[in-house]
Amino acid sequence: MDKKYLDSIIKEYKHYTIEGQVADYIPELKKMERCDLGIAIIDRDNIFTAGEWEKKFTIQSVSKPIVLILALMDRGEDKIFELVGKEPTGDPFNSMVRLETYTMNKPLNPMINAGAISISSLIKGKDNEERLARILNFFRLLSDNESLEVNQDVFKSEKETGNRNRSLAYFLKDIHCIEGDVEEALDLYFMQCSIEVNTLDLAKIGLILANDGLNINTGEQLIPKKYAKIAKTFMLTCGMYDESGKFAIDVGIPSKSGVGGGIMSSVPQRYGIGVFGPSLNKKGNSVAGMRMLEKISKDYEMSIF
Ligand code: DON
Repeated sequence: MDKKYLDSIIKEYKHYTIEGQVADYIPELKKMERCDLGIAIIDRDNIFTAGEWEKKFTIQSVSKPIVLILALMDRGEDKIFELVGKEPTGDPFNSMVRLETYTMNKPLNPMINAGAISISSLIKGKDNEERLARILNFFRLLSDNESLEVNQDVFKSEKETGNRNRSLAYFLKDIHCIEGDVEEALDLYFMQCSIEVNTLDLAKIGLILANDGLNINTGEQLIPKKYAKIAKTFMLTCGMYDESGKFAIDVGIPSKSGVGGGIMSSVPQRYGIGVFGPSLNKKGNSVAGMRMLEKISKDYEMSIF
């Protein structure tokens, strides 16, 4: 791996950005630049970056495995899996169809919106201010970046227009999958999605997951190994929504995408990868980002299979 290789990959894959569109269902996200493409790859000793790696974007659904880990640390496995399942859906990320038909009467997994909103309601704290502070501090700790903040404009935009998420959440409350106040759980979910990061932040979190929760530079175990494993397993089986199967075959790296254009990947024991490419395909995944990861995974034999 070297800088020259990554520069050439960005150059080669940039044109794929015209195949997709930036997310437009959240008005603030429409302002993103469709042709942006950036990447950061890190291992124990090196940081490689290329393209718009430094540009900030909102983390969106990439927050889901991270908040899941915090909820597992707060409440334990039994409580978490009382409220959400462990199975992939094959449906879009914001789908509500299975909530009523799935026999378990709970969201199928914590990587879809319904499951993630349930998980947000389980974060400990006396009020939402304290819960958000705990989430932000956890993200800051894992990314080693004290300056991470919520983008308030994106948060407001999501809150104002998130009617589908709102309806999911009220349904979830009815089937006892939200603890506490529904609007508070939604606010917390919208805020976690609106945390601004860049590719290096995602690569750093990805590397900690790649090392089973251990910060290899400080020797600190930031996440219990068993919870890092649960998060990575969900990333592999459900992290790219209803494209997770294709991604597992083409790329084979536990990864999580978000509609801000981010993808966070963890190559076990080797690399943390952060990608930014806000031009999305119909499934909500970064078009050029996915293709780029496929190429890099093949060139460096990163598939876990
Ligand atoms: O729930 C939403 O609509 C967003 N805040 C996050 C969704 C998301 O990133 C889905 N990703 N592909």
